[in-house]
Amino acid sequence: MTVTVQTLGRVAIVTIDNPPVNAASQAVRAGLVDAVAQTEADATIDAVVLTCAGRTFVAGADVREFDLPPVAPHLPDVIAAIEAASKPWIAALHGSALGGGLELAMGCHHRIAEASARMGLPEVTLGLVPGAGGTVRLPRLVGAELALTMIAGGKPISAQEALDAGLIDAIAQGDLVQKACDLAAAGVDLRPTLVKLVIGKSDATRFDRIASDMRRKARGQVSVPAAIDALERGLTLPATEALAAERATFLSLKTSEQARALRHIFFAERAALSDPRTKATPRPIARIGVIGGGTMGAGIASLCLMRGLTVTLIERDASSLDAGSARVRSTLESSAKRGLLVDLDATFARFDAATDDSALADVDLVIEAVFEEMEVKKQVFRRLDAVTRPDAILATNTSYLDVTEIAAGLRDPSRAIGLHFFSPAHIMKLLEIVLPASVADDVVATAARLSKTLGKIGVFSGVCDGFIGNRIMSAYRTEADRLLIDGASPEQVDAAMRDYGFPMGVFEMQDLAGLDIAWAMRKRRLAQGLSGEGDIRIADRLCEQGRFGRKTDAGWYDFTDGKATPSDAVTAIIVEERQAMGVADAVFETKDVMTRILGAMVQEAEAVLAEGIASSAADIDVVMVNGYGFPRWKGGPLFTVR
Ligand code: COA
Repeated sequence: MTVTVQTLGRVAIVTIDNPPVNAASQAVRAGLVDAVAQTEADATIDAVVLTCAGRTFVAGADVREFDLPPVAPHLPDVIAAIEAASKPWIAALHGSALGGGLELAMGCHHRIAEASARMGLPEVTLGLVPGAGGTVRLPRLVGAELALTMIAGGKPISAQEALDAGLIDAIAQGDLVQKACDLAAAGVDLRPTLVKLVIGKSDATRFDRIASDMRRKARGQVSVPAAIDALERGLTLPATEALAAERATFLSLKTSEQARALRHIFFAERAALSDPRTKATPRPIARIGVIGGGTMGAGIASLCLMRGLTVTLIERDASSLDAGSARVRSTLESSAKRGLLVDLDATFARFDAATDDSALADVDLVIEAVFEEMEVKKQVFRRLDAVTRPDAILATNTSYLDVTEIAAGLRDPSRAIGLHFFSPAHIMKLLEIVLPASVADDVVATAARLSKTLGKIGVFSGVCDGFIGNRIMSAYRTEADRLLIDGASPEQVDAAMRDYGFPMGVFEMQDLAGLDIAWAMRKRRLAQGLSGEGDIRIADRLCEQGRFGRKTDAGWYDFTDGKATPSDAVTAIIVEERQAMGVADAVFETKDVMTRILGAMVQEAEAVLAEGIASSAADIDVVMVNGYGFPRWKGGPLFTVR
C-alpha cells in the first residue's frame, strides 16, 4: 500500500511510502483521498499526523507523469480535502519537502520538521509554476518577499529559516513522528492556511526591484516571469481566483517545449553515470594529492577540502607553493563568507603543502593540474608512479590531451583516468570523466562516486582531442569566425547568442577569458601536430596587436571603464581577412546566426556520438548545459534539434 493509516490512541498516522522520493503519484493522491475519508468517518480519531517512510517527505509531483494526461484525483483537490477536514492534520517533515510536497504540507493545519529538513518550491527549475496552491498559500505563511525568492528563484530553505519565517510551527528534537503525535494529542487548532489574510508586500519597492531583476536574469526562460505573475495574483486576487489561474498556468506550461527540455535535462543528469562499470566496488577515497597550485590546481584542492577530503598540494618550489596555498586559503575564505563553508579553520586544517613528492606516499588519489603539454604530463605521471601506493588512482585534469597516452607510461596504466574540471572548480557543476581504454572498472566506479562526493554532475567521455565539450566548443568557435568572414559583426553574433539564452556571446566570452590563452593554445597545438582551430586568422591578428580582451582594454571590443563598445580596428581586420579570402561584402542576417552556430554544434555532437566518445545524446546535452552555458531550458544542442 502506498498510503497507510495506523492509529495511536486518538491520533491517526497517515504514512506515504512511495520510494525513492515519495513523489505524489496518482496512487499517493488516491491513497490520501481515502485517508481523509477514513479519518473523517472515524469518531475515535481527533487528529491526523501526515508522514513519509524512507529518506524524505514528498519531494514533489511525480515528474514522470508530466508527459501523460493528468489522472484524478488531482493534487489541488487532495490538498483542498485535507484543508477542509474537520480534524487537524499535522505534517511531519523530514528530508526534502519540495514542490507538491510542500504544497501538501501547507494544506495541513500545522507543520513540524526535523532540523535537517529542507523546504522549497523548485517548479520554475522544471519550467513550471507551482500547480497546487503554492503561490497562494506560501505568501500567506511567509510573506511576499520570501515567497518571491522561493517561488520565482526556486530556492529551498532550511528548517530554521522556515521556522523563523512562519512556514513551520516547530522543529522536532528527537523522534519526529512521536513529537507530531504528542502535539496532536495535546490538541491543536484547525487552522487552514487559505483563510489567513494575505500579508502583502511589506516593502513594495524592494519586491518590485527583486522581481524585475529576476525577470531580466531569466533570459527567456518563461517559467520565471510566469511564477512572478502567479505570485502577484496570489497576493492580490481572492484565493479561489488565484488558485484557478495558477492551475491553468501550470497545466499550460507542463506541456511546453521549455518544460519538456528541463525535464529531459533533469533525468539526463541523473542517468549520466549509469555505465555498467560503475557497479564495481569503488576504492576508498579520503586523501587527495593535487599537483600544481595554479588557478585550476588550487580550485580543485579547495573543492576537495570543502567536501571533507584531506588534501596535499605539491608545487615545484617554495614560492610557487606559497602562492598556491594562498589561493586555496583565499577561495576557502570567500566561500566561508558566502555561507558555503561552515568551519574555515577545521577545513584548512585538512590542507597540507609540500615540494617533495614523498608527501604523496599514502594518498588515495592524485589529480595533476600542471602545464597542458604531453611531455610535462607524462613526466609527472612517471614521478607519481614512483612515489604513490600501487592502488592509488592517478588522474589528469587535461582538457584535450590523449589520456591513454599519458596512462601508457605507468607500470599499471589501469589506475589512470582523466578528471576534467571546469574553472572555477569549486563552482562549475560539470566534471568530464575521461576513460582511457586501459582504465580498470573499479577506477571508473571510484571516479563516479567521487563526482557525487564533490557535488558535481559527472559525465563519462571517451578519449579524443578535447573530449565531448571542447570538441563541440571548438566547432562552434570556428563557425563563429566563419560568420565574421561571411559578413556578421562580433556584436551581431554575441547579441543573437544572448537572445537565444546564452549568458554571453562567444566573442564576449573570449574577451573575458583572455584571447592570449586560446592563442597560446593554438600555437602549441600546431607545434604538437594537432589541428589548429580552423583557417581563419582574425583572432591571431587581434593577439598580434596585443588585443587580449578585457585585461588589455581591447579585444573583440574596445573597453572604456570596463564598458564594451564595437571596435573600428577589429572591423578593419575582419574586412581585410574577408577580402583576403575572396568573400564579397554581404549583409548578414541576424536570424541566420543561431541557425549556423547550432548547426555547427549539432554536427560535431553527432560526430562525437557516432565515434562513441559520448555514450548517449543526453550526455552531450548535459555537458553543454552544465559546462558551456548552453541554455538549460532549451535542453542542450541535440534535444533542440531532435
Ligand atoms: N518525480 C519522479 N522521480 C523523481 C522525482 C520526482 N519529483 N524526484 C526525484 N526522482 C527520482 C530521480 O529521477 C532518481 O531516480 P533514479 O534513481 O531512477 O535515477 C531518484 O528519484 C532519486 O533522485 P536523486 O535526485 O538522484 O536523489 P537525491 O537524494 O540526490 O535528491 C531530491 C533527492 C528530492 C532532492 C531530488 O531528487 C530533487 O530535487 N527532486 C526534484 C524535486 C522537484 O523538483 N520537485 C518539484 C516537482 S514539480
